[in-house]
Amino acid sequence: MPSSQRQILVTSALPYANGPIHLGHLVEYLQTDIWVRFQKMRGHECIYVCANDAHGTPIMLRARADGLSPEKLIAQVHKEHDRDFADFLVKFDNFYTTHSDENRELSTAIYSKLNESGYIDRRTITQAYDPEKEMFLPDRFIRGECPRCGAKDQYGDNCEVCGATYSPTELIDPVSTISGASPIERESEHLFFKLSEFSGFLKDWTHAGHLQESVANKLNEWLEQGLQDWDISRDAPYFGFEIPDEPGKYFYVWLDAPVGYMASFKNLCDRTELDFDHFWQADSTTELYHFIGKDIINFHCLFWPAILEGAGYRKPTNVFVHGFLTVNGNKMSKSRGTFIMARTYLNHLRPEYLRYYYAAKLGSGVEDIDLNLKDFQARVNSDLVGKVVNIASRCAGFISKKFAGELSAVIHQPELLQQFAEASNKIASLYEAREFSRAIREIMALADLANQYIDENKPWVLAREQGHEQDVQDICSMGLNLFRILIIYLKPVLPTMATSAEGFLNISALTWQDSQHALTSHSINRFKPLMTRIETAAIEAIIEESTATLETDNMSEEEMMTETETITKNPLSTDPISDEISFDDFVKLDLRIAKIVRAQHVEGADKLLQLTLDLGGETREVFAGIKSAYRPEDLEGRLTVMVANLAPRKMRFGLSEGMVLAAGPGGNELFILEPDEGAEPGMRVK
Ligand code: MSP
Ligand code: ZN
Repeated sequence: MPSSQRQILVTSALPYANGPIHLGHLVEYLQTDIWVRFQKMRGHECIYVCANDAHGTPIMLRARADGLSPEKLIAQVHKEHDRDFADFLVKFDNFYTTHSDENRELSTAIYSKLNESGYIDRRTITQAYDPEKEMFLPDRFIRGECPRCGAKDQYGDNCEVCGATYSPTELIDPVSTISGASPIERESEHLFFKLSEFSGFLKDWTHAGHLQESVANKLNEWLEQGLQDWDISRDAPYFGFEIPDEPGKYFYVWLDAPVGYMASFKNLCDRTELDFDHFWQADSTTELYHFIGKDIINFHCLFWPAILEGAGYRKPTNVFVHGFLTVNGNKMSKSRGTFIMARTYLNHLRPEYLRYYYAAKLGSGVEDIDLNLKDFQARVNSDLVGKVVNIASRCAGFISKKFAGELSAVIHQPELLQQFAEASNKIASLYEAREFSRAIREIMALADLANQYIDENKPWVLAREQGHEQDVQDICSMGLNLFRILIIYLKPVLPTMATSAEGFLNISALTWQDSQHALTSHSINRFKPLMTRIETAAIEAIIEESTATLETDNMSEEEMMTETETITKNPLSTDPISDEISFDDFVKLDLRIAKIVRAQHVEGADKLLQLTLDLGGETREVFAGIKSAYRPEDLEGRLTVMVANLAPRKMRFGLSEGMVLAAGPGGNELFILEPDEGAEPGMRVK
């Protein structure tokens, strides 16, 4: 093992096993995955584990309602989660479950250690009890009138109207949301973890300089208020692990959930060469990071380190906290169709668009991040398709067609290449610090330089002139080398696109270090488009499908999924091929490249957009029946193909001076034709 190689264990919070993954969850899993892929590319040993969080009352009740055993329910959800993560390119080294033998053994051992060391206390407490269902009721399963302001139908622990917090026994006319019965009060003995004894330890640990500042401040507040001992047992019926020598008592889900990180890793160790103790012993030299959302800071930065300390294990090197997702500036909302499931998104768009957008928005802080769907589309289309992929598509054709796929032996502009290689350190430290948005900004600034380089050197002009073959090859080879370095820097975010680029460049899997050298006298493969634009129709379909799930709210998640599954349309048009025409007929068509300089709605027309087209000097006004497939603002600036010699037609809304070409069955399934980069307005299509 090289001395600079780090050994890093990384976790994301364990998703509950009673519901599907949504775009909010994905902020965390994508952030973690990008960070882990970055570490791996740098040559470090970085292991990423996760699991389903399978225990607790909600899962037990949900299984009952569905007429399943909890085991069956979690197995089903596990499969869905597996698929969602795989399809979003989230690559765990292990995705396990907290309902496992490893977790039972570890949780039990940790509890026994805490008990032997005198950190467990027992106390009798009074709790709300559902006499019909014969079970104690967690606060969220009791509703009633707020004791302070009298608002009806409030949760058992706080009032959403006046903000009061109270205990469920104080609610007026409380009801169990499970049975509708009025809860009674009942006593029961509970086990407590003596968190208060760890105050000193936690004050030191939270100030050791590794936590984010705002997290440390929050913890300070809690520490100053004084820590309460933590209730870690629940009475039967409960879905979880029974506590040794305490029949009918179970570990509270939040006790065994973080132990689930260890258990998932243990399960991996048992199948590989990895050494569990090396990573978890108190004096471990390895690094341990937990990525979590801001709602679960207390569990990860107070309870968990105290438990690890009490049981003689290492503590996290750091806990990386992120904010919450908003969509179009608001909390995700079912009625607005912005409560979007991972699967719904995947039904319409490829994962890397969202990976890129989140990366472009994420910093190292706990601020919420907003998914603005318009901005998402514009940003991805302009950065990835317009800038990055464009570099390759502008250069690849010449290399394939004119030089048999062979890159030049020389570097055309070494200083520029050097600049790209030297950016490596800065971009790496930004990734390391989870400043992904700043890393992306650096990378896109380089992409702009690469496009500028091609614009200035105009290989498409030189290609038409005599005696410039070598220049064309050198310029396009240089362009592809710049593209290759950009792909290296983007690879943690865009792993599939990187793999396609590696295939096209005919090279083995890129590592970070590969940014320091170039490809010369190397033969590449034929270029295939690496990524296409996000069309408005896809985003509309996602919203529509997410709104549809609202109406099926009282169905089970599985039913919801099938209910809203889209019927995959046959992508091939069923239009029969038209009758033969002669070559003379064909040449009568004057097809030209046109630039859409303006696109606008036409008052009173439901299908038409008015396009102002630039034919390289000459301007035409055309009415096109593409309104259901495109928003005007998405068309402006694009090149397309038009029939330039069609006799003008008088329409209800004005004179149409030609026709643009689009393919597809119609409706929102229409695709305007767009030439490769390099084509210019007015060029004849032959
Ligand atoms: N099961 C617990 C975690 C146990 S870890 C030992 C849990 N599960 S969760 O499914 O509710 O959330 C999983 C992670 O996703 C959490 O870190 C949570 O903060 C994060 N997110 C859930 N909804 C989110 C958003 N809307 N936005 C950003 N992150 C969100 O908590
Ligand atoms: Zn109130």
